[in-house]
Amino acid sequence: MSLFDRRLLLVTGKGGTGKTTVAAALARRAAADGRRVLLAEIGGERLSALFGRGPVGHHETPIDDRLSLMSIDPIHAAHDFLRGQVGAAVHRVMFQNRLFNLTLVAAPGLREVCTMDAMWDLAREKRGRRQPVYDLVIVDVAATGHAMAMLRSPATYGDLARGGPIRKRADEISAHASDRARTAVVVCALPEETPVNETLETAGKLGDLDVGLGLVVVNQLRETLLTDAGAAAVDALAGGDREAAGQTGLAVRAAAPVSVEHDRAQREAGQLGRLRSGLADGVPLVPLARRDEEVDLDEIDLLGAELAEAVR
Ligand SMILES: Nc1ncnc2c1ncn2[C@@H]1O[C@H](COP(=O)(O)OP(=O)(O)OP(=O)(O)O)[C@@H](O)[C@H]1O
Ligand SMILES: [Mg+2]
Repeated sequence: MSLFDRRLLLVTGKGGTGKTTVAAALARRAAADGRRVLLAEIGGERLSALFGRGPVGHHETPIDDRLSLMSIDPIHAAHDFLRGQVGAAVHRVMFQNRLFNLTLVAAPGLREVCTMDAMWDLAREKRGRRQPVYDLVIVDVAATGHAMAMLRSPATYGDLARGGPIRKRADEISAHASDRARTAVVVCALPEETPVNETLETAGKLGDLDVGLGLVVVNQLRETLLTDAGAAAVDALAGGDREAAGQTGLAVRAAAPVSVEHDRAQREAGQLGRLRSGLADGVPLVPLARRDEEVDLDEIDLLGAELAEAVR
């Protein structure tokens, strides 16, 4: 099953690993393939900036025929959720109560469960009149800790709510998240020791939560441009062994950075291998090369093509 045939993709990973870039690359690719796509982030405007737009806020904002942007506001989502549960009239009374508003922010798991509710509302096959239906909703969820708290929240909050409609909705949200045909998590990583460890940890936690891992992206991989013989000559030069390499002093200075870069690429390839062997069979892992240019929308489309090739 293609990643793009799910209804909801949650993109997560450690800070700075490329979550926003990968979410945008997947969204633009899925839209180019003919899907109606909503690309959302939680409480920020990084995506609208990337697309050269002003802030979009908590509104589904079409930017072309097939792609819309949104910044999900958890507080807004919480009010929508409660309005849906208790009705508009009761919600209005509650909304005027300062204590209630404090509770809304403080109740463990409530914000997260409401954010999940909002995402699932956006990803529904059938929505209200005048509401657009999307084939795919992609959410740039931000850091892994937050994503995990969100995925755990229906259980946390559902237990707190005991019986009743909130519990029922929390159970529905859990069931959607565990449905491999509907929901997949995309984890971004860098080819370094700690991010690889964390990615393997995340993969394990997703298994415990019974949520599908649809794709692991290893971003900003350095490619080694040297053959083994070339690397040996560069190492000899960088070590100052002019005789072994038969070169000049200038070449020695030039060789040092090449040697460092080559060693780094080798280490990264090792980390990539470690990640591959630590992940369950069948989890697609896509390395993305480190780009020298600033990553604008054109670059993002090149990354999107690499990703699409791998998840088909
Ligand atoms: N393959 C790549 N090659 C070079 N630069 C990249 C690549 N992917 C992403 N970047 C750059 O790395 C930086 C971090 O990427 P991005 O903002 O997508 O990460 P993030 O995980 O969303 O970060 P944050 O945790 O801050 O939200 C950005 O400046 C982005 O343009
Ligand atoms: Mg980001």
